[in-house]
Amino acid sequence: MRSKIRYQLLDPSAAPKTFKFIWILLFLAVCFVAYYLWIFNPKKGIYDPLTTDKQNPMTYEQVVNDLRNEIDQRNAIISELQKDFVKMELKTEFKAIYPRRPETDHIDCGRILADDKVYLQTVSGKDRVKIVENKNLNMSCSAIMNRILPSGNDLKPLKNGVAFARIVYTDYEMIEKQVQMSYHPQNSFCFAIDKKAPSQFHERLRAMAACLPNVLLLPDEESVDSAGHNINLAHYNCLRVLINKPGWNYAILLQNHDVIVKSVYEIEQIYDWLGGANDIEITPEAGRVDNKKFKWDPVSLKMFRNETGIDKNVLTTSMKFAKGAVQGSLSRGAVDWMVRTVDLSTYINQWNEGSSGVDEQFIQSFQVSADLGMPGHFTDECLKQKRNTDFVSRMSQWMYGSAHKCGSKTVRHAICLLGIEDLRTVAAYPNLMFNKMIPAFDYSIVECTAELLYNRTFLGQVDHPLEENYYAQMVNVLYHKNHLEPNYKLECKPSYTRWAEREYPL
Ligand SMILES: *[C@@H]1O[C@H](CO)[C@@H](O)[C@H](O)[C@H]1NC(C)=O
Ligand SMILES: *[C@@H]1O[C@H](CO)[C@@H](O)[C@H](O)[C@H]1NC(C)=O
Ligand SMILES: *[C@@H]1O[C@H](CO)[C@@H](O)[C@H](O)[C@H]1NC(C)=O
Repeated sequence: MRSKIRYQLLDPSAAPKTFKFIWILLFLAVCFVAYYLWIFNPKKGIYDPLTTDKQNPMTYEQVVNDLRNEIDQRNAIISELQKDFVKMELKTEFKAIYPRRPETDHIDCGRILADDKVYLQTVSGKDRVKIVENKNLNMSCSAIMNRILPSGNDLKPLKNGVAFARIVYTDYEMIEKQVQMSYHPQNSFCFAIDKKAPSQFHERLRAMAACLPNVLLLPDEESVDSAGHNINLAHYNCLRVLINKPGWNYAILLQNHDVIVKSVYEIEQIYDWLGGANDIEITPEAGRVDNKKFKWDPVSLKMFRNETGIDKNVLTTSMKFAKGAVQGSLSRGAVDWMVRTVDLSTYINQWNEGSSGVDEQFIQSFQVSADLGMPGHFTDECLKQKRNTDFVSRMSQWMYGSAHKCGSKTVRHAICLLGIEDLRTVAAYPNLMFNKMIPAFDYSIVECTAELLYNRTFLGQVDHPLEENYYAQMVNVLYHKNHLEPNYKLECKPSYTRWAEREYPL
């Protein structure tokens, strides 16, 4: 403002020639004032066109031009500085951004999350991105560590970690991605490999387990199949190994293509709300129990390692049965009980003699056999009321009708395969894992989910706050918390809308 006024005063064309004398006086006065300002100015040394070169007085035009040049120069410097600043900001942000594989590099996960349907069209259907496997993946320990724990990303300590028990047979790079997505030094990862898996897959998992102290690989391998044979045994063997690891308060059972969709901090919070209750799907047993060949009471099952002090009635009465997803969450107390208080070998062997769906009764039956006393257990009361019990550990979308209702419009074995169209559902649902993502079908859903968790974990982004009310009001959680209270009444219908009744896909 001041310099603008000065321009007008110094502009000779604006003043009549007869007033030149007054102008000279005024100019001298201005010089005088400027001189004093310069003397008392703490920022002495800043260029002032009015005080330079006293021997060679300037014309008005020169002064004005000098001032203009000076201002132009400073503006140029300011704009350079501003550009540098923007670049620096971009750079620090760039460092923190989730590193993508090349084939998914062009996918803008943020736009899909923001429901940009036009954009979604360009990365789904025929433009769906499949994984391009790296045949020469560097399996040196430092290369594995660099992929799983990118430097500069610090994790806060957890009050309680998680133990992952996963049965695997294929897609090593996706398995390693799963470890990265849930990695925390306090978490433990146990893998049981299907004996039939290719040798390179075995070698790679061995390299990962040899490198990271909290990645455990079972030494004995069994052959698992789609009828569920040996699935329970593999999980049980993982639990036996995991119980020796400190630092976790829940174990979660998974299979190859189940993807955890909550960050390590979110999982810690969710399990805190479950408060020790196991999270297991409970639906009616489907007539698969072989009662002709086998007995199912604890004595016949050689279940309790020490039968002293256990009610005779409990020991000689057949346990109860239920059916549900193989995936589920068990409290540390439940795992400790399964491994140290009881021995489930006979129980597992008897089920392995069956013909189909033999793995779907394992944790369910202990969960509903309240008398056996597994910590965090539930009851069979809701089954008697013909109500299934909700669980949040796994989301899978059963689809018996048209595949058109699946986000990806693709169905396999009556379950929707997940595609990039499911990202919004993945981000919004309360479930801990989604089943199933197949890298050879759609890898961008895996990468966008990984980026989502990365953003939540390392960039502190909150896209969907956790629904505390959901977890804390689950039927099994309320039962666990209150069933020993004298006036407790079991309510089998939850007060909230179950995820399975929600809109799908979002
Ligand atoms: C993750 O954060 C980055 C940086 O803010 C953003 O560009 C990207 O869209 C986010 N992705 C998701 C899936 O939220
Ligand atoms: C594998 O990665 C390590 C560490 O990043 C590096 O030193 C080594 O040269 C790499 N090996 C190959 C064959 O690229
Ligand atoms: C079996 O349990 C009883 C009662 O709890 C206990 O007194 C006994 O020491 C236990 N026996 C063994 C071998 O642990």
